[in-house]
Amino acid sequence: MENFTYYNPVKLIFGKGQLEKLPEEVARYGKKVLLVYGGGSIKRNGVYDNVLSKLNDIGAEVHELPGVEPNPRVSTVRKGIDICKREGVDFLLAVGGGSTIDATKAIATGATTDVDIWDIVTKKEQATDALPFGTVLTISATGSEMNRGSVITNWETKEKHGWGSPYTHPKFSILDPVHTFSVPREQTVYGMVDIMSHVLEHYFHQTKNTPVQDRFCESILRTVMETAPKLLDDLENYEYRETIMLSGTLALNDMLNMGYRGDWATHNLEHAVSAVHDIPHGGGLAIIFPNWMNYVLDEQNAGRFKQLAERLFDVDTAGKSDDEAARDGIEKLRDFWISIGAPATLGDYDIDDSTIEEMADKTVIARPEYGNFKKLSGFG
Ligand code: NZQ
Ligand code: ZN
Repeated sequence: MENFTYYNPVKLIFGKGQLEKLPEEVARYGKKVLLVYGGGSIKRNGVYDNVLSKLNDIGAEVHELPGVEPNPRVSTVRKGIDICKREGVDFLLAVGGGSTIDATKAIATGATTDVDIWDIVTKKEQATDALPFGTVLTISATGSEMNRGSVITNWETKEKHGWGSPYTHPKFSILDPVHTFSVPREQTVYGMVDIMSHVLEHYFHQTKNTPVQDRFCESILRTVMETAPKLLDDLENYEYRETIMLSGTLALNDMLNMGYRGDWATHNLEHAVSAVHDIPHGGGLAIIFPNWMNYVLDEQNAGRFKQLAERLFDVDTAGKSDDEAARDGIEKLRDFWISIGAPATLGDYDIDDSTIEEMADKTVIARPEYGNFKKLSGFG
């Protein structure tokens, strides 16, 4: 392992009925609240009414920013920043998924500075502060509820970048699995692919002696794989939703990667694909991850792939070369994702090869080199 310092200040409030805690948590930070949400799912499933009545309980002055897009746009973030500055908002509440939470992180940051938020997202400028914010999570996927990361899209330039700062951890996150009952089947699949992909991004690293971390990763992957088909047959099953919700949070709260740095090239590639084509993040990952694996697999790193094949997919490696065992594992991963209904090729989204160059350019726009397990380069 490498030396590390672990710090995660997010108060996680998990379980059925935990929205009850919302008033006391919000009241710690102020009464002028900006409620940030997406395209209306929270109105249809009743979460919006429940949240609003809790905010009314403490006499909060509530301003609203509805309409945060999946793959949230910087234009929407700027609208939120304007509301915060105009109304003197002192607390933000994100109610939704990763997109709503990521937009809220950017709004909270932009509200404290005159620097344009896109310059912070693209790392030309540094974040210096953020308004406090909390989250009520409604879909299990990104882990944004317990990390400082945020991913924002600029639709004019077709760029999508991840960024984060010491100020963008939520103060608290309320996770009630019941709030995820209404997530449609397809979106549930994307969420589970995203969760597995986060663990896999961690798993592919070059640091020695990480047996605890490896087993943590494998246990989450196995758990998601065991639970996924059962959940897809029974979308309102509390225990399955609960298992996936906790898996999603643990997959990307920096606990699994203590003492090492994972790869993250696949996410970099996917962000470019969804920046150009606006496809769901989890769908893009299901297409790219097995291809990335086959592309970077070589003699030197095959052992890592073989370990995953044996421990996750029970591949019988007897009499097989490391390369053969590794490729069996990769095939099983792709088969599993297809079995739960995830896409496997860009063609599944009607994307042909006419935009490959554009996507490649967008991938290397932030950094000419990326990937920590295996360096990839835009000029190779
Ligand atoms: O917009 P609404 O109407 O709320 O509908 C959403 C949206 O259409 C719907 N949904 C959410 N909760 C629901 C629900 N529908 C019914 N019932 C519910 N309870 O689901 C759709 C997708 O929502 P979104 O927030 O976009 O999904 P997700 O959580 O997967 O977030 C994806 C975004 O997060 C970024 C992705 O790139 C993408 O932009 N990521 C953020 C990360 C982070 N901050 O750490 C890491 C990830 O790797 C990822 O890159
Ligand atoms: Zn992801």
